[in-house]
Amino acid sequence: MYPIVWSKGKYLHKDSLMFPLEERGLQFGDGVYEVIRVYRGDMYLLDEHIDRLYRSLESIRITLNFTPEEVKGALKNIVERNKVDEDAFIYLQVTRGSAARDHLFPENVEPNIYAYVKRKKRPIELLEKGVKAITLKDERWDNCYIKSLNLLPNVLAKQLAADRGAFEAILHRDNVVTEGSSSNIFLVKDDVIYTHPESKYILSGCVRSRVIHFANELGINVREEPFHVSDIEKADEMFLTSSTSEIMAIVQVNDMTIGEGKPGEITRRLQKEYEKDAAIVQEEVSR
Ligand SMILES: Cc1ncc(COP(=O)(O)O)c(C=O)c1O
Repeated sequence: MYPIVWSKGKYLHKDSLMFPLEERGLQFGDGVYEVIRVYRGDMYLLDEHIDRLYRSLESIRITLNFTPEEVKGALKNIVERNKVDEDAFIYLQVTRGSAARDHLFPENVEPNIYAYVKRKKRPIELLEKGVKAITLKDERWDNCYIKSLNLLPNVLAKQLAADRGAFEAILHRDNVVTEGSSSNIFLVKDDVIYTHPESKYILSGCVRSRVIHFANELGINVREEPFHVSDIEKADEMFLTSSTSEIMAIVQVNDMTIGEGKPGEITRRLQKEYEKDAAIVQEEVSR
């Protein structure tokens, strides 16, 4: 982790940031967050992440005493002050604040907000080869459009996937694929891309929206329509998207091989668009 963090308007050393035991993020998961990709010191899709942060905050009735411009300015400052010039992530969290433990919203309490930067390289090998996924019942609540700190079902799903030697869990409600435990899911059939429409059952991913934009630019048909678990066996390609995983081919689901068991043509074209869009320097890309 880089040493300088931002919290409530102050730039501090990471080791000096302390929160009391009675903190609503810690005790209730009462807050929201964003994870923002940094490529060689440049934040990718910053406006989209900050717009979503404020939508999430509004949904859970937290009023932040910083404007979106001030938050963006603070993030730029921690990137600069830490001299971040490589691939990294910014973790930005907002909670309802520190107050005596009580389910009810505390009165006159200032939200806690903090952001820090961590180095993280791109998952080049997985991007090149693709990953395995499992299917799993979506046991989350009905407000998955909020990027809530309450990630217990997502954590359990991801761990179960890992226990079964997979990278991601593809979640479904009544056999309709919603999204992954930490990603959005896409299926390609007969040159058409399908993905669950924006709704309260999925998080509207920043990379998801960008991928739909890339596909439109490339003249590839995208249908934001639900598809079923039973459609997976007929898929030509599948991929997942997220700020951490970019656009990653899914080459196996449970025991089924998807397409030819390697990233398909459409997935690769979209990956190239992503690399151009994020201005990822060519020497990093071995393909
Ligand atoms: C449940 C869920 N869906 C989708 C995404 C992808 O969102 P984004 O593309 O904005 O990173 C994430 C990212 O963490 C997620 O946790």
